[in-house]
Amino acid sequence: MASNKSSSTHQPLTLLLFFLFTLSSAHAKGGIAISWGQNNGDGTLTSTCDTGNFEIVLLAFLDTFGCGTTPELNFAGHCGPWFPCDNLQPEIEHCQRNGVKVFLSLGGTFGPYALCSPEDAKNVSDYLYNNFLSGKTGPLGSVYLDGIDFHIDARELDTHRKQDRYFYLSAAPQCFFPDYYLDDAIRTWLFDYIFVQFYYNRRYQYDIFSSWNTWTSYVKLNNTVFMGLPAAHDAAPRGIYISPQFLCSDEILPIIKQTPNYGGVMLWDRFGDANNHYSDQIKDCVKVDDSDVRDSLSEKSYR
Ligand SMILES: *[C@@H]1O[C@H](CO)[C@@H](O)[C@H](O)[C@H]1NC(C)=O
Ligand SMILES: *[C@@H]1O[C@H](CO)[C@@H](O)[C@H](O)[C@H]1NC(C)=O
Repeated sequence: MASNKSSSTHQPLTLLLFFLFTLSSAHAKGGIAISWGQNNGDGTLTSTCDTGNFEIVLLAFLDTFGCGTTPELNFAGHCGPWFPCDNLQPEIEHCQRNGVKVFLSLGGTFGPYALCSPEDAKNVSDYLYNNFLSGKTGPLGSVYLDGIDFHIDARELDTHRKQDRYFYLSAAPQCFFPDYYLDDAIRTWLFDYIFVQFYYNRRYQYDIFSSWNTWTSYVKLNNTVFMGLPAAHDAAPRGIYISPQFLCSDEILPIIKQTPNYGGVMLWDRFGDANNHYSDQIKDCVKVDDSDVRDSLSEKSYR
């Protein structure tokens, strides 16, 4: 069950080595993360993974935890008393066997969730580890999820990952900078992935490049950044929808992709994506190929 950390994010290398390394593994960079679980129209987890479009599926959400509450999953109509969530175990394993990483997202719009004290944070982290990351029996069956997508302090979980099998930590801040809730956690630099949500706020979308540059230069090179976008018009009523054609045109992604810690695109959510076929249309252009990397290397050397 060992899950090795993917090549480009964990090497304590110098900047030069990082670039060389990126060059050598360029084919593997640039993927799509998808949020799944908040709409019955998502389709099954298995069918989501079987599209072959995704590098990461974010199960949304564990929306109740902390301050002595009994933690609860909320996967809309996907599971509940009528279809226990541990029935998802074979689907999760199916995804993992097909090379898709499966993360649990904490948070969401309903809650309640909060952490009342450092002791509470430790308790929640133990709960997450025991129930979702260790293969012991938990609400999703006996699963070894590949990571936890965070809205709380990551430090406690990091101690678990040092002792045992490696798992990923990610955060999904809004594009406002710095993120009010997550900034302290982000500055631990412990997040392997940062999914910056460009889909919540119109103002920042007008200046997508400066917002992107602020985020990607703030975090470390080993904190891979994904551009979070709505997968359909209706998926983010408060944000601006960028069509796949425009995203892939010379205007946006080819520029974004030159950032050394670019990881790909994160989509909210699978329901919108399934109807709009967004990931089908961008899956090739999110990848970084050798020519993109050469461009970015030569750009750096002129600075
Ligand atoms: C943390 O867990 C321990 C042991 O289960 C319990 O005694 C303690 O009250 C919990 N603390 C909080 C803040 O929930
Ligand atoms: C990234 O590197 C920093 C040191 O620059 C280290 O403290 C941090 O733990 C690393 N994060 C990950 C996700 O590997």
